[in-house]
Amino acid sequence: MRILVALGDIFDAENLISIESTQIAGISYKTIGDAGLEFLEDWSRSNAKVVVNSWMNPAGMDLEDWDKIGVPKEFADKQLRIIKALTDMEVNPSCSCAPYQIGLIPRSGSHIAWSESSAVIFANSVIGAMTNREGGPSALSSAIIGKTANYGLHLQENRIGQLEFEIDFETKDFDFSLLGYYIGEISKNKIPIIKGIKKASWDQLKAFGAGAAASGGVGMFMMPNITPDYEIIENPEKLNVTKRNLDQVQEKLSDGINPDVITFGCPHCSYEEIQYIVQNVKTKKPIWICTSKEIKKKFKKIPSNVKILSDTCMVVAPVKEMGITCIGTDSSKSAHYTQNLSKIKSVLKSREDLLRGD
Ligand code: F3S
Repeated sequence: MRILVALGDIFDAENLISIESTQIAGISYKTIGDAGLEFLEDWSRSNAKVVVNSWMNPAGMDLEDWDKIGVPKEFADKQLRIIKALTDMEVNPSCSCAPYQIGLIPRSGSHIAWSESSAVIFANSVIGAMTNREGGPSALSSAIIGKTANYGLHLQENRIGQLEFEIDFETKDFDFSLLGYYIGEISKNKIPIIKGIKKASWDQLKAFGAGAAASGGVGMFMMPNITPDYEIIENPEKLNVTKRNLDQVQEKLSDGINPDVITFGCPHCSYEEIQYIVQNVKTKKPIWICTSKEIKKKFKKIPSNVKILSDTCMVVAPVKEMGITCIGTDSSKSAHYTQNLSKIKSVLKSREDLLRGD
């Protein structure tokens, strides 16, 4: 309660409001370390329990098959302690960053406290739920108290598009991730309005939002015919996006040449995405596909160079310690964090190019 009230004071919230669900990040031992592990075990020992439906973000490894991809044992032991502390508090060990594709779909207009930035932006912009970009500890506090401070994107008056981007070319799958990254970088923490996209699937919007939330502090975007509470300021500043802008993003996020492993699933892959990947693999390079347990279970027969990993991703797994020096990815978000968090090289290409081994 002290954490929530302190946040409310910082952001001038008038009150706390009830929430319907939480999605808690800061699960990987790679990102929270010993201090985070002790913090969670402390809370768990005090017998705290969540009072709303609460799901975990990805951990640092596949919770069952971690030894098959070379995760160090010491890392695995500490990761399993983190999961235990959270499950003892009754947080669902869903370990996915796309919970809305496996059953946690908030109601439009409902208040939630989610912390994975790609899930936050999706919930606000595509589903119409209301959440700020929570940190792991604040989302867990909200899970235990059932409330969050009423500020930012919980207030209708702050959910207004401020900066307009016009796209005048046809956007294909891979473009969505690059476009999100480009727009996020310019928008910083403003709400961008994106015009010129006629149609987009949830997978494409997922890729767009992840890119925008990774390069900027964007928590919400507005797209006509997609965002439920579409509202924009009068005469917003207007910017055009060209194909060249996207090529520049791709160049910037590709500092490697020859990936040791090709990765998909940032954010976590849907069933349809995995189906496409496994049916179109041409390369013999190792491929990791990151997804949830529920979706992983559905794939029994896959090419021999493909591993489907649940509960984790190429960013929060200890890839450097596993001897990987360069990853291939179709996600601007994973390329960004591969360079900046994992400190290894990345090659950012379209799914089709990666599958061909180009
Ligand atoms: Fe999800 Fe990991 Fe990307 S948590 S959004 S796959 S960095």
